[in-house]
Amino acid sequence: MTDRILIIDFGSQVTQLIARRVRESGVYSEIHPFNKVTAESLEAYDPKAIILSGGPASVTGEDTPRAPMKVFEMGVPVLGICYGQQTMVAQLGGKVEQGDHREFGRAWVDVEDDCELFHGVWEKGGREQVWMSHGDRVISLPEGFRVVGKSEGAPFAAIANDEKRFYAVQFHPEVVHTPHGAQLISNFTHRVAGCAGDWTMAAFRGQAIDAVRKQVGSGRVICGLSGGVDSSVVAALLHEAIGDQLTCVFVDTGLLRAGEAEQVVRVFRDRFNINLVHKDASDLFLGKLAGKTDPEEKRKIIGATFIDVFDEEAKRVGGADFLAQGTLYPDVIESVSFIGGPSVTIKSHHNVGGLPERMNMKLVEPLRELFKDEVRELGRELGLPEEMVGRHPFPGPGLAIRIPGQEITRERLEILKKADTIYLEEIRNAGLYDSIWQAFCVLLPVRTVGVMGDSRSYDYACALRAVTSTDGMTADFYPFDMSFLSRVSNRIINEVKGINRVTYDITSKPPGTIEWE
Ligand code: XMP
Repeated sequence: MTDRILIIDFGSQVTQLIARRVRESGVYSEIHPFNKVTAESLEAYDPKAIILSGGPASVTGEDTPRAPMKVFEMGVPVLGICYGQQTMVAQLGGKVEQGDHREFGRAWVDVEDDCELFHGVWEKGGREQVWMSHGDRVISLPEGFRVVGKSEGAPFAAIANDEKRFYAVQFHPEVVHTPHGAQLISNFTHRVAGCAGDWTMAAFRGQAIDAVRKQVGSGRVICGLSGGVDSSVVAALLHEAIGDQLTCVFVDTGLLRAGEAEQVVRVFRDRFNINLVHKDASDLFLGKLAGKTDPEEKRKIIGATFIDVFDEEAKRVGGADFLAQGTLYPDVIESVSFIGGPSVTIKSHHNVGGLPERMNMKLVEPLRELFKDEVRELGRELGLPEEMVGRHPFPGPGLAIRIPGQEITRERLEILKKADTIYLEEIRNAGLYDSIWQAFCVLLPVRTVGVMGDSRSYDYACALRAVTSTDGMTADFYPFDMSFLSRVSNRIINEVKGINRVTYDITSKPPGTIEWE
């Protein structure tokens, strides 16, 4: 079995980054919430090493989370990070106090001594940049530990018990603001824990194919293709696993970008030779959207219509035993919640929600263990074109939420598609596509006066949006230079009939959202 590392989550905002760094070091890892981990579950999981994450609680408070003592009795290496360090120290007989010297953001660690964790990057006597975020701090160590690093606010910023292979740091090695953090984590997984480093997408491909074959047997599988990365990778993987037992259904809503529907057919039917049903349902979708302008109403209509069409097409091909879905690991991780209560719905992202319940099929979810960047890597392994694998995220309701405040008509969709194509073409030509999380045009519900040649124009304004982000939860607008923006603006106004004004959206998220609706 592949070596695996268990990350016990105490609720830090950045726990997922620990898992990603571990996996980037070639080792499989999973995140389990602290309150679900028991001595029995630890034994059953059989980790090669354990990492305790940070978290918002204080070990000095009453009834705050602890790791099961079993963690320290299994004979496996343990790495504690921030809260994880504090609970490790408290549980093993050291002391933690509520510090009056809080450290947030960049800090410096003086390397007091060499240790396995620092191998190849940090040396005794050095001063290293890290990222801190803590109020409490360790003030005395349990038996068997030594100090290997200290900072102004944390006299025990890095500690080690070499014999037991317990290490703990007050700073966050998982974030990019700790420049050598990834190497420290890799030292833990390889040098300390002795993991093999064989978690690669090439290896995963083989395992996932075996698992799908085992699950599906001789059953039939249906898979909804959207043209996005996740469903494309699911389809390619399933095709390799079960060939003709797979049928893909591509519901063309008419709300995709220019050329995307054609590309899906070209790649999957013509190149991969997959059984593909291409249903052009654009008339139906546009008919249902007629006269609608409210964003949530549009989302609901599109979601429900999608399910109807998909269901009908699935019946037409004779049904199936399984429904394949591109669920990813971040959708699966159970989050630790300290603040109860429902959160406010900003946008209901339910495009195909309800499909599995309605269709009464078993689910095949071969990407459940993967992060997005791993899915992309797997897509490359499977031979999907880079243009598909590296594609920016695209919302389920598509261009319908990029024509805010006015009815979705074919004419407006055509105008928007043309502007969008030019914008993305210029972004690609400038070599910026991969530095941007998402870029698109929004057709604004306003006509403005312009002068073109000698005549007056009265046409739409369009907004350009481009943001950087790591997960879509927060985002910054992309700082294009003026010459780029002016080139795009000129081209759109000259080449797209119907638009005579271009603006650039300089709102970050929060307070804005990425899409306008
Ligand atoms: P917002 O606009 O909420 O977008 O900042 C965050 C990310 O989600 C995408 N998005 C959607 N995706 N169905 C989707 O599948 C939706 O209804 C939807 N609304 C927004 C958006 O494109 C961005 O990547």
